[in-house]
Amino acid sequence: MALFSLKSLAILLLLTAIPIGIIVSLERAQPSTHVYNYHGTGGWLRECAKWDPTNRRFIVSFFEGGVGEVRVPEEEAEKGVVLQEVTVAMEVSLAGNSSLGISVDTQRNRVLVVHADVLGQRYSALAAYDLSTWQRLFLTHLSGPSDEKSFADDVDVDAEGNAYVTDAKAGKIWKVGVEGNLISIIRNPLFTPKEWYKKLVALNGIVYHPDGFLIVIHTFSGNLFKVDLSKGEEVKVIKVTGGPLYFGDGLALLSPTKIVVAGNPSGRLVESTDGWETASVVAKFSGPMHRLATSATVKDGKPYLSHMIGIGYPKKKFAIVEAVF
Ligand SMILES: *[C@@H]1O[C@H](CO)[C@@H](O)[C@H](O)[C@H]1NC(C)=O
Repeated sequence: MALFSLKSLAILLLLTAIPIGIIVSLERAQPSTHVYNYHGTGGWLRECAKWDPTNRRFIVSFFEGGVGEVRVPEEEAEKGVVLQEVTVAMEVSLAGNSSLGISVDTQRNRVLVVHADVLGQRYSALAAYDLSTWQRLFLTHLSGPSDEKSFADDVDVDAEGNAYVTDAKAGKIWKVGVEGNLISIIRNPLFTPKEWYKKLVALNGIVYHPDGFLIVIHTFSGNLFKVDLSKGEEVKVIKVTGGPLYFGDGLALLSPTKIVVAGNPSGRLVESTDGWETASVVAKFSGPMHRLATSATVKDGKPYLSHMIGIGYPKKKFAIVEAVF
């Protein structure tokens, strides 16, 4: 008996040591591309990081709730220097909710941030903050306990300043005006796949294209949609060669013909030459997979992937990794 439990203890240690060993070696591996590492202020998970070119910083969202900035010095530090996250916004009234998608609206000197109850799926809101003062400009309630289960996930802004927020649970898009008024909800049968297992995570990353349409991804079906705002919000499935884009998460528009899809694999480059009627996966990038790439952003013309999982003790270290395709 004693021998048996010793043996099972040894097996248990071995089993837990293997994944830890893999993570340690993955962490020690020299990254092949440029990485911004930063120390977090608290929790283990960061959902989104977007570059704010005016203020030379990444704006990051805390899964435990709150928004931070990670300033990047003018003289970019040599390899191995760890930047520091500073908390810039915290909604006391939303305690218990996560902060998720971010859209930096440089033109209006503000940033939009999604806040939602990821586990309970009973609360979703969109907030806007002044980029210079972090004063809150609005906090728009999107859904609550008496509505259908929802969880607001990601956001982008059109040329007029309207915000579009994806619902990763019910598969819809909330449209919020420039002053924070809820204008409408975009629904379409194409947003709901038939199979139950493809409904687990619905609409996720979203980008506004300067030609007047949205590109949206559905995580579990891998579908990419074009929502044409100039044609009454007409929804079409973009035919993607090399798709479907299963497990696609955050998106970033690299140029009018290229988007970067964060997820698993860490990054995919998708290109379209016909105004996003069709597209193809032209390249893939594998970063630190164990940290999970959940969002993409563009800094000085280059795509970067933000990874969700912080690793380290006592301070958790996060990684924003350049994707080279
Ligand atoms: C999220 O915030 C709302 C609004 O204040 C609150 O009612 C709700 O309890 C919060 N959710 C969680 C999971 O704490």
